[in-house]
Amino acid sequence: LERILVLNGPNLNLLGERDPLHYGTDTLDKIDNGLFRLGLQLGADIVCYQSNHEGSLIDKIHEERRLAKGIIINPGALTHYSYALRDALEAVAIPFVEVHLSDINAREKWRSLSVTSDIAWKVIIGKGPDGYFEALKELITYLRDEAGTS
Ligand code: DQA
Repeated sequence: LERILVLNGPNLNLLGERDPLHYGTDTLDKIDNGLFRLGLQLGADIVCYQSNHEGSLIDKIHEERRLAKGIIINPGALTHYSYALRDALEAVAIPFVEVHLSDINAREKWRSLSVTSDIAWKVIIGKGPDGYFEALKELITYLRDEAGTS
């Protein structure tokens, strides 16, 4: 079973009540549960973590550096300015998918810059919760293809 770390950054604990026009009405618990169930189907081990603190997210990435085979991350607003988070993702060199529920390119101008996306294996934007599920399926396919060809 491939271990996949699912990280959500600041304010994503408020999903369901926060700005539903942009983020929908599903709670993070519902998304995490869905990922867990999809993980069971795909034969992947899902570990979910949310924090409002940059350093806690970085600590988690470090902790998982020899365990997780892939990362799915929605860094929230850290996306737009956290070079520390970017460095952590780069340092551990674990392939990651960056997910945004909303279309960050179609909102305030400052949201259209991501400081992490250029080192992401894939970026999925504006598909709501489905983006996380798509990320998991694609990541697993990629990891298995890679294992098969190396
Ligand atoms: C977000 C977009 C960010 O700009 C915002 O700060 C978030 C959520 C998204 O999922 O659409 O917290 O990453």
